[in-house]
Amino acid sequence: MLLILNSNFLNFEYYLRNSMNVTENQSLKHLNTFGIDASARYFAECTSLEEIKAVLSDKKYSGATKLILGGGSNLLFTKDFDGLVIKNNLKGIELIKEDADFYYVRSAGGEVWHEFVMHCIDHNYAGLENLSLIPGNVGASPMQNIGAYGVEIKDSFHELQAFHINDKALHIFTNTDCKFGYRESVFKRELKDQFIITAVTFKLHKHPVLNTSYGAIEKELEAMGITNPTIQSVSKAVCNIRSSKLPDPKKIGNAGSFFKNPEVLKSKYEALQNEFPAVVGYPLENGNVKLAAGWLIEQCGWKGKSSGDAGVHKLQALVLVNYGNAKGNEIYDLSTKILESVKEKFGVELEREVNII
Ligand code: FAD
Ligand code: EPU
Repeated sequence: MLLILNSNFLNFEYYLRNSMNVTENQSLKHLNTFGIDASARYFAECTSLEEIKAVLSDKKYSGATKLILGGGSNLLFTKDFDGLVIKNNLKGIELIKEDADFYYVRSAGGEVWHEFVMHCIDHNYAGLENLSLIPGNVGASPMQNIGAYGVEIKDSFHELQAFHINDKALHIFTNTDCKFGYRESVFKRELKDQFIITAVTFKLHKHPVLNTSYGAIEKELEAMGITNPTIQSVSKAVCNIRSSKLPDPKKIGNAGSFFKNPEVLKSKYEALQNEFPAVVGYPLENGNVKLAAGWLIEQCGWKGKSSGDAGVHKLQALVLVNYGNAKGNEIYDLSTKILESVKEKFGVELEREVNII
């Protein structure tokens, strides 16, 4: 039997490129938690680094704008995406090393964040329990240094591995390299749209250091009858609190807080306090004060308001919602009106937290 080998036949990337299923005009409605009915010109779901390399090496998409998609829980599509969407579906969780005090646990970027947190809790790897039930994938967690209930991932982040879209090489970023801040990282700023985060390693405690200082956690633990909290009970308390006030995206489309809590000078806070004694603010180490944007928005009368299917959640004014068939730009326009009214009433600029596409 004669076997004719094309030189490309031996090329794995070539093989993958031709076997990968890149769909065209793919609906993204079920791939973003706002439930916005946008579509992607090209859409590829990648389950390995080789597949990511293959699709990025395909000349057909070399000129296309790229969007990396995780769980779609921090995005607002204001139009169809006229480029290539790469859905990161890399899976795998591994304990890579341990020492006397820490476990180093590596998760592939496509793992679901809450499932990863539950895995850590089941194995008594401590540090992520306050971040239970945050939607989305592990790969997106460093993008905005996800945070809740007094903890941010930077507190237990060790390093990440990311694939450079243009040079097609893997890079390692340490905690310092990521330039984490409140809902910030280098990947949202100077390195925006340049990397695909393929894996993240966390440094987790063997001897838990619980953080229950956030008032609501202590109250919830008390209500649960817990006097000696563990990482398991703290996680459960956080899940209870979150479920009681944040809308479940499976029922009402949303992307969590739409705006960041703004940081203002102490003098500005004091001036606000004179005029609005109930203003909610938290002192920061740098002397400034972080204001509760939800309070500012509620005081402007937005809580529970809607315009068509675009609305402001009735329990949490910081969360904008899609009651059904809102268009992305209707939600965006609502957010602009909110920004303007907060600026007018309080002289405070809100900044959107959600990524606008
Ligand atoms: P996506 O929405 O898919 O993407 C977000 C951004 O990251 C996009 O710019 C995307 O291009 C980029 N991106 C995604 N994956 C990668 C990757 N692998 N490599 C490079 N870039 C990538 N956030 C908090 O911080 N704290 C909260 O308490 C919180 N609560 C929430 C509650 C609800 C109900 C909802 C819906 C959202 C909440 N969020 C919260 C926001 C959201 O869950 C996080 O921002 C989450 O990390 C987004 O993950 P994702 O996989 O869905 O990212
Ligand atoms: N508040 C109001 N009215 C509202 C909402 C809030 O007055 O409608 C006031 C209340 O005084 C409340 C305070 O704001 O005590 C703070 O509210 P909450 O505890 O709900 O937290 P948040 O500041 O609104 C932030 C994060 C959330 C995170 C929670 C818990 C941001 C932008 N949001 O919300 O993150 O889960 O704290 O730590 O920092 C997200 O990023 O998507 C997100 C949900």
